[in-house]
Amino acid sequence: MMKAAIMGFGTVGSGVYEVLDRNADVVAKNAGDSIEVKYILDLRDFPDAPYQEKFIKDFAIIENDPEVSIVAETMGGKGAAYEFTKRCLLAGKHVVTSNKELVATHGAELLSIAKEKNVNYLFEASVGGGIPIIRPMFQCLTANHMTHITGILNGTTNYILTRMIDAGLDFETALKEAQEKGYAEANPAADVEGMDACRKICILSAIAYGDHVYPEFVETEGITKITLQDVAYAAQADCVVKLLGRAVLNEDETFYAFVAPHFVSKTCPLACVDDVFNAIMVTGDMLGDSMFYGQGAGKLATASAVVADIIDCARHNKKRRDLGWGDGSRKLVRPLEGFASRWYIRVSGADAAEKLAAVFPGCNMLQAVQEGEAACITDELTTADMKKAQEALSAVLGCMRLL
Ligand code: HSE
Repeated sequence: MMKAAIMGFGTVGSGVYEVLDRNADVVAKNAGDSIEVKYILDLRDFPDAPYQEKFIKDFAIIENDPEVSIVAETMGGKGAAYEFTKRCLLAGKHVVTSNKELVATHGAELLSIAKEKNVNYLFEASVGGGIPIIRPMFQCLTANHMTHITGILNGTTNYILTRMIDAGLDFETALKEAQEKGYAEANPAADVEGMDACRKICILSAIAYGDHVYPEFVETEGITKITLQDVAYAAQADCVVKLLGRAVLNEDETFYAFVAPHFVSKTCPLACVDDVFNAIMVTGDMLGDSMFYGQGAGKLATASAVVADIIDCARHNKKRRDLGWGDGSRKLVRPLEGFASRWYIRVSGADAAEKLAAVFPGCNMLQAVQEGEAACITDELTTADMKKAQEALSAVLGCMRLL
């Protein structure tokens, strides 16, 4: 029997316990051994949990117990989670995690410690919750140059946008509904301001391009400024508004990486990904398009990916999986200024339509959805040129790239 520990008994951590317990038969069959949770580390008390003897508050008990060979870190954040993960790896224990913030911030370092200590640091649940995406990218797609990674990477914002599009709710009302349903956090800033999606595209591009991508190098815009007018203009253009995390490879090995709301054509499969679902489209130069779809958040969906990593550690107890990437010093992320696309832009003013026609000659003018404004779809232009055009126009109410 193998012994494991869970650090952090929140939504995902308690889900990990539940999956290991309810699916003990299939876990044992696939791991080649049964897996028992010996400790659950959490500062809070859980008086209703039947397995009281497992709860501990002192991390050193896990660190110093040679019987514990696999640790699931489901604490989140990059404070104690970072310290404890490092110490577990240094103590020769495999660590698995759903913590995207930690992987996006310290992944290169933690993977290098894991390599040094000949243990695994696995993080399938850090992107797309229960969707298999990390392993496909590390294994099945490796014969390709991954030219594009395009993902709906955050369930909360996708739910909010879906409700704005389908039910006509404004942003605030849709956010409140997402919170009531338990999708959004009480403080949903990391979701709605795009940071969560940013961490996830950092991880995917580090895998695809082999060097750490720090969140501060990824231009990130959330959905807080999206209005029902933007949604209506998108419909006119046969598009829907989606928050996308994107990475686009250049010929010289540099790449663009960014997060922003987009007008997504209804002909693109990503346009049909609704509610809290996530999807990641990966385009390889040999493979063409592939899409990974499923539940991007939620207790058991995310826990199923964490437990799959536990099983992988059990199977590879003495044979480390060779995962890793560079320390970020290659600085492969190219500034977004040179990235070109078509754009939607909406401006206010009595002469808004004339101004748009003057700045973007030949643009596709949309039907104004309210008095005193105009909107259009431009031809392809770079981010730098769009920024200059916005300065010339002033009074810009909305602006998004098209996909
Ligand atoms: N807050 C995240 C989301 C949870 O809404 O997608 C999963 O990473």
